[in-house]
Amino acid sequence: MLDIVEKSVARGRNFDLTGRVVIITGAGQGIGREYARQFAAAGAIPVVAEINRDNAHRVVDEIVADGGSAMAVRTDVADAASVADAVRSVMDAYGRIDGLVNNAGIFSTLKMREFTEIPLDEWDLVLRVNITGCFLTARAVAPVMKERNWGRIINITSGSVPLGVKNYMHYVTSKSALIGMTNSMARELGAFGVTVNAVQPGGTFTEVPRETVTEAGKAWLKQTQCIPREEVPMDLVGLVLFLNTEAAGFITGQTIACDGGLTHW
Ligand SMILES: NC(=O)c1ccc[n+]([C@@H]2O[C@H](COP(=O)([O-])OP(=O)(O)OC[C@H]3O[C@@H](n4cnc5c(N)ncnc54)[C@H](O)[C@@H]3O)[C@@H](O)[C@H]2O)c1
Repeated sequence: MLDIVEKSVARGRNFDLTGRVVIITGAGQGIGREYARQFAAAGAIPVVAEINRDNAHRVVDEIVADGGSAMAVRTDVADAASVADAVRSVMDAYGRIDGLVNNAGIFSTLKMREFTEIPLDEWDLVLRVNITGCFLTARAVAPVMKERNWGRIINITSGSVPLGVKNYMHYVTSKSALIGMTNSMARELGAFGVTVNAVQPGGTFTEVPRETVTEAGKAWLKQTQCIPREEVPMDLVGLVLFLNTEAAGFITGQTIACDGGLTHW
């Protein structure tokens, strides 16, 4: 028993990501792009699993130009066959999958409107991509991770859940479901060395323009956060990279906010 604890403590000091293969969905732009760039900078191999093929390749080109390694795989997370193909390609290329960051989502393209005005097809799409997409990707990588007795799954939820943001109900509903999914998945995978956590960003400003961003909204965020400045993708990188390390191996089934103190549990 003492031996097991001592080994765990030794692993707890290991923050190295070198050579780890981490699939990041929706990494063709915005926050996911920054995750991919920073995983590569830390010596990991990010897989940009993105529905927009051109954007996926652009991010990989950026990483390679900076001296890193990365792979682009055109992936529709809402399509089981596409996800299976992507996982097969990654296994063919590297023979391992260490991490999955479920970052893809229908987000920046959404219009804010009262829930009574949300068309059913838009509701269905948001839930299909934001919830079912995370189920499909996790379902595809879990056997590979279980086999190696090591894995990290991170589901990206949103501060809009505890805040209960209005005029966005399909999105808030989808991100809320990911918290339950995280808790349940963590229970199923814990005995196999696979941790599952949710990361909860606040309002984060990227290179992608969004109709939903107003000056009043930005000002409200700043005055509500403990740290009164705009959140940027780099603010999320430390937590997401850390959760993929050996050192984070005893953290599972948690939803962790990284939002400058916008929300409290
Ligand atoms: N930016 C924020 O303020 C904020 C706050 C909380 C949570 N989040 C979450 O963080 C994640 C990234 O946010 P962002 O601001 O970069 O969003 P974004 O809309 O700019 O990027 C989403 C990415 O997902 C991709 N995508 C969409 N559907 C896909 C599919 N079916 N298969 C594969 N890829 C698909 C898009 O092409 C895009 O590259 C999202 O899950 C979002 O909900 C963002």
